[in-house]
Amino acid sequence: MWEVCDTAPKIGSLIRADKATLLSGVRAGEIRDLLEQRGVLVFRGAGLSDAEQIEFTKTLGTFAHEKSEQRAGQEGEDHVYPITMDTAINPNADYLKGAFFWHIDGTMAQVPIRASILSARRLAAEGGDTEFCNTYAAWDDLPDDLKARCEGRQVIHSLWRSQLYHDPEPSYAKLQQWKSCGENTLPLVWTHQSGRKSLVLGNTAQQVVGMDVSDSEDLMIRLRDWATSPQFTYRHKWEMGDTVIWDNTGTMHRATWYAVDSDRLMHRTKLEGEEAFA
Ligand code: OGA
Ligand code: MN
Repeated sequence: MWEVCDTAPKIGSLIRADKATLLSGVRAGEIRDLLEQRGVLVFRGAGLSDAEQIEFTKTLGTFAHEKSEQRAGQEGEDHVYPITMDTAINPNADYLKGAFFWHIDGTMAQVPIRASILSARRLAAEGGDTEFCNTYAAWDDLPDDLKARCEGRQVIHSLWRSQLYHDPEPSYAKLQQWKSCGENTLPLVWTHQSGRKSLVLGNTAQQVVGMDVSDSEDLMIRLRDWATSPQFTYRHKWEMGDTVIWDNTGTMHRATWYAVDSDRLMHRTKLEGEEAFA
């Protein structure tokens, strides 16, 4: 079984495929192409187990380990990573609160991960949808005068900036801890090897280089507001059995609010990056 239909004109496709087709890799090339064109692909009712999610991920590219695990020297075997607010399940859960705000995964790396894959394991009783926006389409449709203001601009990104969204008055010690997780300077407009361009924004975007704070916030918020407006976005309401994959190089995403004690649990795998920001 293989059926594809678009969820919105500028973002998202819903794919109905049986497990055997997904795991065989016969559609892998097609999935990669669709991913680049549509930004986010929903495999409704795929019903993948953890082992199957890992297997499916590997049909699409190189399996990527979590940076936090690499730092701790805990890579070990390939496994799924728990996305939860429960620190008993994920000791780094506090960092994941950044996901309530629009972001790109892995902006501290020069080569960001290609794609993230999420499967629902336990749903929140309330909230906990995931929203996506297409940053290629947002760039393409941006008015020319704004395009001219963006071209050639660089933006400083930092992990600590993303954490201030949910923890605005950290202790000094906590700030230093966040700072040890990195900073990166990235182009505001990413020209991909394909020639397509996308906007690079999100909760790690701290300041446009060469602009004062006020002008920098003005531009970045204006662009985020544009990129996340309805014509570029898709909101996924999770059902058990869903697996969703997003092109992390041409989209931003965020979780909509859910309670920290809601029990919500997602299992994530990632595809290693294939192209540096440029
Ligand atoms: C992620 C993420 C959003 C969500 O896993 O990278 O941002 O809805 N998840 O859990
Ligand atoms: Mn994320």
